[in-house]
Amino acid sequence: MRRAKISIIGAGNVGATAAHWAASKELGDIVLVDIPAVEGMPQGKALDLYESSPIEGFDSRIIGATSYEPTANSDVVIVTAGVARKPGMSRDDLININTGIVKTVAENVARHSPNAVMIVVSNPLDAMVYVAWKASGFPTKRVIGQAGVLDTARFRSFLALEVGCSVEDVQALLLGGHGDDMVPLARYTFAGGIPITQLVKKERLDEIIKRARNGGKEIVDLLKTGSAYYAPAAATVQMAEAIIRDKKRILPCAAYCDKEYGIGGYFVGVPVVLGTDGVERIIEVELDAEERKMFQSSVDHVKELVKTVKV
Ligand code: NAI
Ligand code: 2OP
Repeated sequence: MRRAKISIIGAGNVGATAAHWAASKELGDIVLVDIPAVEGMPQGKALDLYESSPIEGFDSRIIGATSYEPTANSDVVIVTAGVARKPGMSRDDLININTGIVKTVAENVARHSPNAVMIVVSNPLDAMVYVAWKASGFPTKRVIGQAGVLDTARFRSFLALEVGCSVEDVQALLLGGHGDDMVPLARYTFAGGIPITQLVKKERLDEIIKRARNGGKEIVDLLKTGSAYYAPAAATVQMAEAIIRDKKRILPCAAYCDKEYGIGGYFVGVPVVLGTDGVERIIEVELDAEERKMFQSSVDHVKELVKTVKV
């Protein structure tokens, strides 16, 4: 059986760590790409990771490059190219520089891997996934943004600490953009099948929701030189795995919603079924008046942001 091919564009913190998680799961062969100005860096990281394979026991070819030829006919392309936040910066502050970068990257991806599913990670996420879609000309189901898997993972980790249970037993759902107005849905959050509202008092739950919303900033403030990468990379690889192994996972992802949720043609975080074709289905969940209001406010923010980009 032919091995899957995964290309990661942007061999920085998130990209290189995604290569690490993907290799450890033996998802396929990996090509790590960065710009010619850092010639040797993607090659060095790729070789170093490949040399760990006899120890870790994975059979994946891993190569680095500063051009797109080695990425040809990838099954999945992960876009982590761009600039990351530093303390005092919001994700939105990255929009001008990252729009140009993501546009160029998406055009190259479309040229070299016309049938790939593209997972966009670069920030501001909800605008960058829109840019990648426009620039690639790909069908909407093959362009997906990573945010919700990370944001729910943060929420789930904090809840597991609070409840004193395994992280594996906490399931959560979150809607909206990858911003401070993202919408964790307490009503759709469970630990071992028990509604979280029966296990954690409302005041404490509100504090945990606030911490999850600020999860990105919490790490930026600690690191001071950049933003999170272990959890973002793990989240991205979980999406890649669902696609490559056709797992039909239900995951919260930034997907193109038109009639769905009445969004009208933007990428926002919603639960989707992920399989070989990319977004195979968007699931519309029932929202009460307050949840709908929070979701609408997050969607309005995404729309404002997207209106400022020129693709
Ligand atoms: P980083 O600075 O460590 O790596 C970015 C890499 O992109 C650098 O190696 C840079 O040389 C490369 N690059 C720049 N222009 C390029 C181009 N045209 N083609 C190929 N490579 C190019 O940054 P990090 O921490 O890896 O973050 C990457 C992006 O992901 C940032 O925009 C960050 O905000 C975003 N991010 C998004 C998350 C999410 O949940 N959606 C979570 C974490 C980070
Ligand atoms: C995060 O949430 C910076 O978007 C990135 O960590």
